[in-house]
Amino acid sequence: MNIIEIIKKRRSAGSFSDRPVDKDKIDRIVKAVEFSPVGSEKVPLKIVVVSKAAKKKQIRQAAEQIEKAYLEGASVFDDSNGSDSSKSGDDWQKPFLEEAPYLLIICSLAGQPYQAASTWLALGNLMMAATAEGLGSLCYSPSMPTFLRKILNIAVTYMPIAIIPVGYPSDELFPRLEPKDEKIFQNLFAGRFNWQKT
Ligand SMILES: Cc1cc2nc3c(=O)[nH]c(=O)nc-3n(C[C@H](O)[C@H](O)[C@H](O)COP(=O)(O)O)c2cc1C
Repeated sequence: MNIIEIIKKRRSAGSFSDRPVDKDKIDRIVKAVEFSPVGSEKVPLKIVVVSKAAKKKQIRQAAEQIEKAYLEGASVFDDSNGSDSSKSGDDWQKPFLEEAPYLLIICSLAGQPYQAASTWLALGNLMMAATAEGLGSLCYSPSMPTFLRKILNIAVTYMPIAIIPVGYPSDELFPRLEPKDEKIFQNLFAGRFNWQKT
């Protein structure tokens, strides 16, 4: 696959199969991140690789507790009388945190110049590298990512930014359409598309 094919192929994986992932693939993904552009020639990030079931469970439980509390807090200011399903649904549930064979946690070194920009660029490379390895990934940015510090022993000098579950998707990822077709497709699903009679 060339880079354009990889970019077009990448889609977020919402759920993962239990098919084991070769650790070499994860090592190559992490290594690829080292080639990311970094501001001021400083390497402002580190990646924590989590594969132990017990740790993943702990991360899921803490993340779901926080997301649930966050959504409940947000609903206090919700004046839509529950009609907005994105707020009242099961958005707080994060089963992918346990399903995916690997969680890659990207952390940014506090106080480095361009730390945020460099970290997000690296994250893009990480997801592309996962696609190139035939794996699915998802960018999950927890509402309060600092909870990861205690569970994973991350020093206060590093700020956890995002969790990227990586593994084989449980379903074939829907291929990306051209943006204009994707819009029509979404509108069709939402029942908003009016067919033009010719
Ligand atoms: C900065 C950022 C944060 C994201 N955070 C979440 C998240 O917290 N939970 C989630 O399920 N998806 C998250 N996503 C994934 C987006 O929902 C997804 O990329 C978007 O729907 C487009 O779909 P695609 O990745 O298949 O192209 C995030 C994506 C980005 C770029």
